[in-house]
Order: sequence, then C-alpha cells, then structure tokens
Amino acid sequence: MDQSVAAVVAEREPDYVPPHPYRHETMPSVIELMGLARKNFLSIWSKGNFSSRLMSQQVLRRLLVVCNSPDVVQEAFQTNHAVLQRKSPQMRHALEPLIGDGLFISDSDIWRRRRKVVAPIIHGSRVPGFAPIMVDTIEEKRAEWAARGAGGEVDALAEMAHLTAEIICRTIFGRNLGRNYASEIVEGFSDYQRYIDQVDLPAMLGLPEWLPRFRRPAVHRSVKRILGVLDEIIDSYQAMKDSGEVSVIGGLLEARDEDGAPLSREAIRNEAAVIFMAGHETTANTLAWAWFLLSQAPRVRERLHAELDSVLGDAPPSFADVARLPYTKAVIEETLRLYPPVPILAREAMADTTVGGKRIPKGTILMVVPWLLHRNPTLWPDADAFRPERFLEGEGTRPSKYGYVPFSIGPRICAGLQFGLTESILSLAILARAFDLRLKPGADIQPVCRLTLRPGDALPMTLHPRTA
Ligand code: HEM
Repeated sequence: MDQSVAAVVAEREPDYVPPHPYRHETMPSVIELMGLARKNFLSIWSKGNFSSRLMSQQVLRRLLVVCNSPDVVQEAFQTNHAVLQRKSPQMRHALEPLIGDGLFISDSDIWRRRRKVVAPIIHGSRVPGFAPIMVDTIEEKRAEWAARGAGGEVDALAEMAHLTAEIICRTIFGRNLGRNYASEIVEGFSDYQRYIDQVDLPAMLGLPEWLPRFRRPAVHRSVKRILGVLDEIIDSYQAMKDSGEVSVIGGLLEARDEDGAPLSREAIRNEAAVIFMAGHETTANTLAWAWFLLSQAPRVRERLHAELDSVLGDAPPSFADVARLPYTKAVIEETLRLYPPVPILAREAMADTTVGGKRIPKGTILMVVPWLLHRNPTLWPDADAFRPERFLEGEGTRPSKYGYVPFSIGPRICAGLQFGLTESILSLAILARAFDLRLKPGADIQPVCRLTLRPGDALPMTLHPRTA
C-alpha cells in the first residue's frame, strides 16, 4: 500500500465488523463437534483454526483433513485434482436423487465429458448474451419495489431468492417458459432441501457406498415433481424451437459430446437441474448478505452510491457498464469473502496421496473451508472487517488466487463464475441505485450454514427510494 492510501485508511472511521459464531478457545470433543456441525457447521471452529495451514482429525472411521493456506489449497485442488476430484459422500448422497450423474457430483470420465459439454454453454463468453435477460428481470424487481412505497417491508433474502430464480429460469428455459415455470421449480427445490439429510452418518462410519440410504418419501415426491416439470419444459421447448429463443436448454439439446453424440434426455434433465441448483441460491445469498452489510456500513454505502450515480446516472445499465463499476464489484467480492455461499468444499481421496507433506490415505475427506481461509489472519489484515477497498487495485493487495476461493479453484472451479458475478453486480447496481435498504430494528442476523451459508431464514428490511 502506498503512503497516501495508508494515510486515508488511517483517517477514516473504523470498518464495520459483521457477526460470526462464537469461536472456541480450544477444540471441542468429537461428539460435541458432531452435534454442533448438525446445527451450524460454522460454529465448530476454535480461534487457532483460522490461522492453521493444515489440520486433521479422525471422526469415527474417517480421517478429515482441512487445507487452509494457498500452497496446500493449490496442491489439493490443482496439482492433485486426479485423486482429489471426487465430491464427499455426504454431498453425493444428498444430491444424487435429484441430479443423478449431473456435473456437480460426478467425477472421472463422466465429469470430464460433461464439463466439456456444459461449461461452454454458461461460459463467460456467453454472458453478454444473457445480460439483457438479467437486466429486464432486475428492472421488474425495481418496479415491484417502487410500487410498495417508502418504508415498505421486505424479506431481502426471499426477495433475492425470487429474483435469482427468475433470472436462472429464464436463462435456462428461455424468457417465456422460464416465466411460466419459475415458481413451480423453486418450490420443488426448496422442498427437496428441507427433506434431505445434512450429515451422512453411514459415510462417517465408513459403511460401503452400495449400502442403501434411507430417504424419506417426501424426498422422492419432490424429485418426481421437479423431474416432471423439467420433462414438460423439454417437450415444450422442442415444440417452440423455431421461435428463436436463446436458452441453456437449447444449448444442451443441441450439444454434441466428443464422440459427436447428443446428450440423453436424462442427462439434459440432470444438467438443467444442476445449473438451476448451483446458480440460484448462491447468487441469492450473496446479494442478501451484500444488503445486510451495506445497511450496517454507511461509509461503504456512500462510496457505492457515489459510483452508481456518477457512472449510471438515470439510465439502466447494460453489460458494458459492469466493467465501469469497480467499487460495486469490490462490494460483491468482499461479501463473498466474508460470507462465501459455499463455505465448505469437500472431497474424498480416490487413492492414497500426500498434501503439504501429510499422508492422505484413500477414503480421507479433504476439505477447503472458504469460511476459514477467507478469514485467515496471515492472509487478510483485519480479517473480520467489511472493507471492499481490499479488492480495489492500488488500495489493497489480494492474496494468491488459491487464498480466495468463493467459486472454488482448479479444474472444478464454478462453471458459472462470470455469470454469477455479472448477475450480482448488475442486481446490486440497479437496485442500490434506486433504493436504500435498512435493517428492521431489533432484527438479529447471524450466519447459518446448511447446504449454503445464509443470513438465517429471513432478512427483514425496509425499502427507501433514493434520489441522487
Ligand atoms: C455468486 C454466485 C456463485 C457462487 C458463489 C458459486 C460457487 C460455486 C462453487 C464453490 C462451486 C464448487 C463446489 C464444490 O467444489 O463443491 C460451484 C460449482 C458450480 N457452479 Fe457455481 N457459484 C455461483 C453461481 C453459479 C451460477 C450462476 C451458475 C450457472 C449459471 C453456476 C454453475 C456451477 C456449476 C455447473 C458448478 C459445477 C462445476 C463442476 O463441478 O465442474 N454457479 N459454484
């Protein structure tokens, strides 16, 4: 940091430090840890864990290893990808009924083939084509909020979930079909999440993969409902193909794999479900946390408003404006650092290997925990403080790309990274240009980790129209 920047930093008011669960002085027992993990995976960590490089713990029959510095993250997710690419049994068993052999939980040859077909359909180079759908949908939300009047109450978490579900549905299925089916798909997915188990005890006990897992009938009912809707959409898409709609489902139907073969209907259904699931709640949580953080940090809010007013004026933004909004982007990046929507990245070792000089026997669960890595005090000064400036060129220093991994890293990096970032920046730009969101007095917001990291079950806020 140069001297003039250091002087500005020293002068300004202290940065806001947002809430995090209690950190233990010493590591709780394994039994206590399992109980804590069931309720909230973020509450198991003790102070020393945040600055550790590599940690390990035997839990029942499984060895758990946590990589928490850029060098070991790189070794695990990049160098050792071949042996450490398999998702954890917990993740695979939780999602398999819904997404089958979908990209998100497959590995080895199936993953490699699918990644080649699916990633280009949502790749960054396609994002400019999807941006008009994003902007129109966000503008609809802005109009809906405007109609509520000053002081209107909203649950910002539900609002952002609705917005991102609409965007991803219209992107996957085309504007018209997406609009018709969005609410049904969203309900089906929320039911599914409610009924699946979070902790896979049979896997922790080292029981074999083929052992049938008990699943509540409600899980099968919600899967049947979602798959039924997806089938209907695929049929209607084929009927209206000539209408010239741009969509992910069109891309999947027309894609050919490396042998020139089309994807089967089941594969198309699975990959459409993957993209919805991977792209909806992650972006919604990012935006919800951004609203919360902004509501508590007047200095950041003012700097954001200044950028939006000067760059956008009164015109709605387009894709080209995204590159002209560095502070808005920094707010999103800092939000993703403090509250990474996917706070745990877990893998199962497919063979014996080593990481950071430690022996990793086959079957070990190896984790990169963005929640810890992003608050590692050896990588981030004032790691718990909300300070978007750390992501601005000339004002902060980013650690290596292996020290900041909200989208994961290595060959399994999020295939929708540019999509998710652009969607978040455009949503914040359009909505924060028009409204200030204030936290409802008395609301106590705490981070809770279920499948993703959320601000509890609701984020009660009030809407206040802005005039520049
Ligand atoms: C802020 C928004 C987002 C965040 C933070 C995020 C984060 C992630 C993370 C951490 C993973 C890896 C998970 C793991 O290794 O266990 C992942 C995978 C994936 N994401 Fe995203 N994501 C976001 C938005 C999106 C969007 C919008 C899409 C689709 C349009 C998407 C599609 C995918 C897919 C297909 C994968 C699986 C990649 C593979 O296994 O090869 N994501 N995402």
